[in-house]
Amino acid sequence: MVKIVFVSHDGSDRTELDVKAGGSVMEAAVANNIDGIVADCGGSMVCGTCHAFVSSEWFAKLPEQSEMEICLLEFVPEPQDNGRLCCQLEVSEAIDGIVLQLPAQQR
Ligand code: FES
Repeated sequence: MVKIVFVSHDGSDRTELDVKAGGSVMEAAVANNIDGIVADCGGSMVCGTCHAFVSSEWFAKLPEQSEMEICLLEFVPEPQDNGRLCCQLEVSEAIDGIVLQLPAQQR
């Protein structure tokens, strides 16, 4: 199992999931009713509502962003250099223990 931690924008809420490898972090969040991951497009990378922030330590370990992900992240409500789209992150042992902070709002 892979541990994924979601932290609310203000840090007041923290949810730890133990998820089977395979699928995306977005799918795991939606299946577990994580507030703040909306995922309107279901992972087609057109909505940007699966946006989350990753610490610099974790950011460096993740696969590089595609051009399309970089482009879409420019249009999220709170663009930051450490933003990722959860639908583009695969649940695997490589991200075991990752902490994702949710933005104050999704579009
Ligand atoms: S679910 Fe729409 S961009 Fe990720």
